[in-house]
Amino acid sequence: MKPLVKPLFVVAMCAALSSCSDDSSPDSTSSGSSESSGLVESEFGKMPGGESVKIFTLTNTNGMEAKVTEYGAILVSLQVPDKDGNLADVTHGYDTLEGWLTNTSYFGATVGRFGNRIAHGKFSIDGKEYSLVTNNDPGGIPCHLHGGTKGYDKVLWKGEGFESGSERGVKLTYVSPDGEEGYPGTLTVEVTYTLTDSNDFVWEAKATTDAPTVLNIVHHSYWNLSGDANTSINDHELKLFSDHYLATDAGLIPTGEKAAVTGTPMDFSSAHVIGARVEEDFEALKLGGGYDHAWVLNGTKDGDLVKAAKLRDPETGRVMEISTNQPAIQFYGGNFLDGTATGKGGVAYQHRTALCLETENYPDAPNNPDAPSAVLRPGETYHHKMVHSFSAE
Ligand code: BGC
Repeated sequence: MKPLVKPLFVVAMCAALSSCSDDSSPDSTSSGSSESSGLVESEFGKMPGGESVKIFTLTNTNGMEAKVTEYGAILVSLQVPDKDGNLADVTHGYDTLEGWLTNTSYFGATVGRFGNRIAHGKFSIDGKEYSLVTNNDPGGIPCHLHGGTKGYDKVLWKGEGFESGSERGVKLTYVSPDGEEGYPGTLTVEVTYTLTDSNDFVWEAKATTDAPTVLNIVHHSYWNLSGDANTSINDHELKLFSDHYLATDAGLIPTGEKAAVTGTPMDFSSAHVIGARVEEDFEALKLGGGYDHAWVLNGTKDGDLVKAAKLRDPETGRVMEISTNQPAIQFYGGNFLDGTATGKGGVAYQHRTALCLETENYPDAPNNPDAPSAVLRPGETYHHKMVHSFSAE
């Protein structure tokens, strides 16, 4: 893979989505395997302290376009073709960096050090207890969520674009200091986003540590495959390659029970319309305010990619299939969206107008002896790969 040889900054205004086309800008530099595909690097804005923040635009030969910023290692937008070839952005988020600086919903973010919840913000490694900030309290029960008050979604990463044959991407690095948000060990993290000419959009995280720590680095995009952020995702069809979900308590912490999905509204082992059963009188749905659970993936084997999910919007025909090397997937149905976040194009994001499909280790894995280990030790490398394959049918 070769790094982009001629990085170039264009005016910040131009990086605001849809305000101008990077390809047509006389100031921008792009290169790639065809005239329409390639990689463009520009300035997205400035941090409150004045540091410049880059945005990378990746385009493939089918017109798919991904924008990724160094702030939060965030996916800013993803343009995907429908069954008639029409492109639309299928993610929630903001037009400008300022939106993301104050975002509290983790739109598009890389979440860490530990994605999802840790009960009471406490865990032990080798008999030593650690305390993390508690920044969330579903059911009135405090817990640690998504890395704390300043998780990986709120820090500035260092990005470098690359192109190689039929793919292009951006590698982002961040060194998370020992003690950050209460976590032990200096963690060196590398996240790579890649867009291929076969319409695969890949997010991959690797990490090493200088002391034992726990981690679960997660990609947190909010999807609405219709491309219209005003519509509900209740009409999308979802299949999850899973026969069990993790039952939770009122604080959305797994109880340890792997519950069979058969005969329940949690059964997505064949495709179901999301809204068909979400209001059923079923304890897990009551506790989550809808779907907000981890499903245990069938047939996971160390390191191998397995199918995790297939999401389809019947209107536009857009399909997103997800595969991963992780043991579980969090399906969050956008239950906490309530119109208070005003995002791209001034749209106030309403209840269930987007959903997250986050491949992951089990929530609260550090406190669950039956969960796959979430501990990383010096000399080991954490590796999480997530492939989003787009098509239309
Ligand atoms: C969690 C939700 C949480 C949301 C925050 C999801 O990963 O499952 O419970 O509210 O993130 O954006």
